[in-house]
Amino acid sequence: MPQKVLVTGGAGFIGSNLVDALVATGASVTVFDDLSSGRLEFIQGHVKSGRVKFVKGSILDRKALDAAMQSCGRAFHLAATPDVRAGTEKPQAMFNVNMAGTFNAIDAARSASVGEFVFASSATVYGEASVIPTPENYSPLRPISLYGATKLAGEAMLSGVCGVSGMKAVAYRFANVIGRRGTHGVIRDFILKMRRNPKELEILGNGKQKKNYVHVDDCVAGILHPKKGLGKFETLNIGSADSITVTEIADIIAEEMGLHNVKYTFTGGDRGWVGDVPKYQPAIDSMLAQGWKPKMNSEQAVRKAVKELITEI
Ligand SMILES: NC(=O)c1ccc[n+]([C@@H]2O[C@H](COP(=O)([O-])OP(=O)(O)OC[C@H]3O[C@@H](n4cnc5c(N)ncnc54)[C@H](O)[C@@H]3O)[C@@H](O)[C@H]2O)c1
Repeated sequence: MPQKVLVTGGAGFIGSNLVDALVATGASVTVFDDLSSGRLEFIQGHVKSGRVKFVKGSILDRKALDAAMQSCGRAFHLAATPDVRAGTEKPQAMFNVNMAGTFNAIDAARSASVGEFVFASSATVYGEASVIPTPENYSPLRPISLYGATKLAGEAMLSGVCGVSGMKAVAYRFANVIGRRGTHGVIRDFILKMRRNPKELEILGNGKQKKNYVHVDDCVAGILHPKKGLGKFETLNIGSADSITVTEIADIIAEEMGLHNVKYTFTGGDRGWVGDVPKYQPAIDSMLAQGWKPKMNSEQAVRKAVKELITEI
């Protein structure tokens, strides 16, 4: 019998790419998603072929989650409001989904005796770390956005529940994940802006924000890479080996769109928005030690994602 796995947020960007890879391993996949930002079309092929069961539901609906978790061996929890700015604009809504919803997912998994729980955390838990690249054991963990705080709290709840139950868990602290089906983020924003106005691009901040980007193919390969010697609860960074500035990303997008002499204007300041961490790069040594290695550095990841999104959007 193939292992039954549940993916919350499986109709979203990272989730649907993960579902593709899980289906390829022969797993029996249930996607649980309210389609608030995800799209059924991302997983429609698998649903039609019977490889994936789709449940439209919210992680705030505990009963629906309980039912979906039954007889699952592994649960991947990706459903969330994934945007730092959304947490500043509508903090209560973010709290509900990322905190109460994540508690529901963890507790529903525990009560259904799910063996392994995988949580999509974020490198935003590090806040403005003084050590870059930032290792998993860096402290103090002081997120500078509600989004980062909800991810850190999610990790803490998961660690606590693993401590008092038979469940094992891994929280992956993703860097900026990019690629096909990207539903949000700088690449999508810049492509849309330059389509509207090919002559001028407004860049939030001073353009020198330098961040780590990992392609979704590398990210999914990292999540599914077999791990050895993990404890009951672990945190693991997933990113690429280097970083790239926002202006360099704009240059790549303009080049791939065949645009010349685009005039950049900057809104100013050292960050794009309140809660934005202008420089970050998670250290990936722990994942390298597990035998996973990203195939792309930040620039290669950006270039591939740009090509994919230009065709897709
Ligand atoms: N994309 C990144 O760079 C990045 C970085 C770090 C962490 N993450 C985390 O990875 C996960 C996936 O992010 P993504 O970039 O694919 O975003 P996404 O918005 O494409 O995916 C989130 C999915 O969750 C679903 N969802 C939202 N609220 C829900 C609810 N109440 N009930 C059920 N489903 C709900 C959405 O419909 C969507 O399909 C999120 O937890 C996010 O915080 C993403």
